[in-house]
Amino acid sequence: MKKTIREIKDFKGKRVLLRCDFNVPLDHWGDILNPARIDAALPTISYLIQKGARLIVCSHLGRPKGFDKYLSLFPVAVYLMKHFPNRVKFSSKVIGPEVDEAVAKLKNGEILLLENLRFENGETENSPAFVRELANLCDIYVDDAFGVAHRKQASNYGVALKKPNAIGFLIEKELKVFDEAFKKPAHPFVAIFGGAKVDDKLTLINNVLDMADTILIGGGMAYTFLQAEGISIGKSIVSHDLVGEAKAILERAKEKGIKILLPVDHVVVENGRTRKVRRPEIEGDAIGLDIGPKTIQLFSQEIAKAKQIIWNGPVGKYEDSYFRKGTVKLAKAVAKSGAYSIVGGGDSVSAIEEAGVSDKISHLSTGGGASMKLMEGKTLPAIEVIDSI
Ligand code: 3PG
Repeated sequence: MKKTIREIKDFKGKRVLLRCDFNVPLDHWGDILNPARIDAALPTISYLIQKGARLIVCSHLGRPKGFDKYLSLFPVAVYLMKHFPNRVKFSSKVIGPEVDEAVAKLKNGEILLLENLRFENGETENSPAFVRELANLCDIYVDDAFGVAHRKQASNYGVALKKPNAIGFLIEKELKVFDEAFKKPAHPFVAIFGGAKVDDKLTLINNVLDMADTILIGGGMAYTFLQAEGISIGKSIVSHDLVGEAKAILERAKEKGIKILLPVDHVVVENGRTRKVRRPEIEGDAIGLDIGPKTIQLFSQEIAKAKQIIWNGPVGKYEDSYFRKGTVKLAKAVAKSGAYSIVGGGDSVSAIEEAGVSDKISHLSTGGGASMKLMEGKTLPAIEVIDSI
């Protein structure tokens, strides 16, 4: 078991560096479009300031290479100011003398949010010099950045190795949810997988084959599986080199008596026109971009029987609003099922929000890549380095 902030008895007056994942979507005006990741970190922040910590909060935002004014964390500072009036300060620098000075002036229960960590190249490079600078800012390190825990970066992996440390409540909850769902799954256990690339998902499907009863596959990755079944897919996206592996998965599932369901109809685009194809086969130049109505019905029937559901990845080309319907309908079906449901991955979580059913989902994970690693049965490097109890 990893040490949590509950196990650290004395935060009073201590300089605590809290790594959060505030990688939230912003519009062109810098307004936060979805604050879910910030909200999920609020319990840890509240706890630490109530305990009298002098809190230094840090995060990345986007993937800048050096400074990028559109990826400043200032909007997040404004959001935090509303939650913690008169306690929040913002540092336009990540490290350096101005930051040292601001930290020195922090009073117990105050918060200093640092600028985007990725404005410094040392962050993603996990450079020893940058790790040292961050470590020098604090007495205790707390990691609550679940979304980035699959990466070994300076502010999570590097600093944790240098300081007394613990995880926050957000990471504690994420770990508990995935651990219980995989160790003691409720049956029927239905897994829904989508997304464009099949290579990202094969380990995941292989891991889930040992515990799920039904696996529903949609999105771009479904066409590699359809091809493995010998079904024509037109010009849909396919990973030719993985067709053999997809076939092996389908055979393994059959031997184990696990149902893998693939799309039985599609929404396609051909010569710039969108239309429905009412059978599994796609001919000619047509490209499958969403599941069709029969597949929605078929998948929804399985979802309705489930007692536990995990879902990662959209079942259509979600970034294009014309091909969202399948994903949004499945989101509603998951909500209606009453099953214990865990949803991870940016687009699947957005679909849940678009369908207006977030409150009916048992756990909306704050991590895409990180939740996928846990679903694959792997550990997360940034959490591995946190002290155990
Ligand atoms: C995410 O949004 O998945 C996390 O914040 C990690 O971001 P990254 O993929 O840019 O490291």
